[in-house]
Amino acid sequence: MTIDDAKIVELPKILDSRGNLSFAENFKQIPFEIKRTYWIYDVPGGENRGGHAYRENEEFIIALSGAFDVIVDDGKQKKTFTLNRSYYGLYVPKGLWRVMENFSTNAFALEFGSSLYDESDYVRDYQQFQKMKNDGKI
Ligand code: TYD
Repeated sequence: MTIDDAKIVELPKILDSRGNLSFAENFKQIPFEIKRTYWIYDVPGGENRGGHAYRENEEFIIALSGAFDVIVDDGKQKKTFTLNRSYYGLYVPKGLWRVMENFSTNAFALEFGSSLYDESDYVRDYQQFQKMKNDGKI
């Protein structure tokens, strides 16, 4: 996987006088079957999240409110995606290092995962990640 495999997906937006509605479905807007949902909120100013890669887990990230950046890194190149609308999602394939930063006040990140939580799926050491990438192990 390279940073070019991470993609912004525009979600459907149904507008009427009662407000807006957006949605995302398995294998449609989200290119995998959702096994897990979690969310990040009340991030203190200046704090980062992420800072790891997954061996197998794929993710889809939506900024339900506020804004933050997701930096994806394939060991050679990095790309920053700014999420600040609730009708865009970011697909992050497995095997990429990713960091989330620049959280605004009241930022609310909703994340969908393709697998159940499993600490052994994480690579939390950047040098180990780079070595695995170079060796084709992630
Ligand atoms: P972590 O994935 O390191 O958070 P982030 O990537 O946002 O910095 O998870 C932080 C803690 O929460 C860690 O102890 C594992 C736990 N956790 C779960 O128990 N289940 C989950 O689905 C997630 C994402 C984390």
